Amino acid sequence: MDNTIKNLLEQSKTKIETAKDSVELNNLYVEILGKSSKINNLTKTIPALPQEERAQAGQMINAAKKELEAIFQKTKQSLAASHKLGKSIDVTAPGKKQELGHLHLVSQAIEEIVDIFSKLGFSLQSYPEVDWDWYAFEALNMPKGHPARDDWETFFIASHRATSSLIDSQPNPKLGRQVLTPHTSNGQVREMETVKTPPVRMINISRCYRRQIDVSHTPMFHQFEGLLVDKKVSITDLKGTFDYFTKAFFGPNRVTRLRPHHFRFTEPSFEVDVTCGVCDGKGCRICKEGWLELGGSGMVHPKVLEAGRIDPKIYTGFAFGWGIERTIAMKTELPDIRLLYQNDIRFLEQF
Ligand code: PHE
Repeated sequence: MDNTIKNLLEQSKTKIETAKDSVELNNLYVEILGKSSKINNLTKTIPALPQEERAQAGQMINAAKKELEAIFQKTKQSLAASHKLGKSIDVTAPGKKQELGHLHLVSQAIEEIVDIFSKLGFSLQSYPEVDWDWYAFEALNMPKGHPARDDWETFFIASHRATSSLIDSQPNPKLGRQVLTPHTSNGQVREMETVKTPPVRMINISRCYRRQIDVSHTPMFHQFEGLLVDKKVSITDLKGTFDYFTKAFFGPNRVTRLRPHHFRFTEPSFEVDVTCGVCDGKGCRICKEGWLELGGSGMVHPKVLEAGRIDPKIYTGFAFGWGIERTIAMKTELPDIRLLYQNDIRFLEQF
């Protein structure tokens, strides 16, 4: 009896452990431990054994059954772990949530801004972010060497010809050197050249580059530039446009004001301020006096219209240019705009 049980145990073990998949394993279970299995048949032979052997035989059979049962469980687990368990689905397992991504905060703001201005008839244009000095400065009434140009702290391109070495190449006689645009105002004269006869109503959104980095600056940022040129355009049109944008973008309680400023390409020029969203214009730790600065604007300088071959005696216009990151920071109370470009998912997923 002893040997029969031992042999049976050994054979069964090998069979179980070499099962290829769950189907084979289930069939083996019936064969090895089922009602009419060899081991069960052995149990039936116990009463025929001499009295003194019966107890021991019973214990051995039970121990063998227990061992086989344990081997079955172990094999089942290892098959499951190596994905060989067929298509069994645990319908009681909690569902897995599919994480959906979303647009970056800057892209969301761009979509929103374009949408608001398209309702006022402005269409989105796209002008180069590597452009000629002429469009970025000269045509905007900022001649070379003019101190105002220092404000823009521009990155110049060493060469405008791909084949030449990185030593500064000959500038283009009319257009000058190439620059990484420090603002989107380069789109102004380009748009006038494209449209030729007003009305001009464009939004130009692009990346801009300046040598600055701190809580409110990144060396690469985005601006949106608005330009409207037509007959009888006045400062009231400019103010009305800002009021509409501010209420649509920041909320109905926010108010704008124009503060005199100086830009070479607009006359008169203004900084546009918006009431602080935290204190509603009363003054708080963030805004100090109730106002937050949005960006620059003004009535297009006659010289800029002339550079775009538009007659300043017939047409007038207004222009503005604001940083998108700053606009977002004002809406969401971002303490540091560099957060936008650190790619930290814990920050980005909050929006
Ligand atoms: N280009 C200016 C800047 O970058 C903003 C501006 C645009 C001002 C259009 C007036 C008109 O600060």
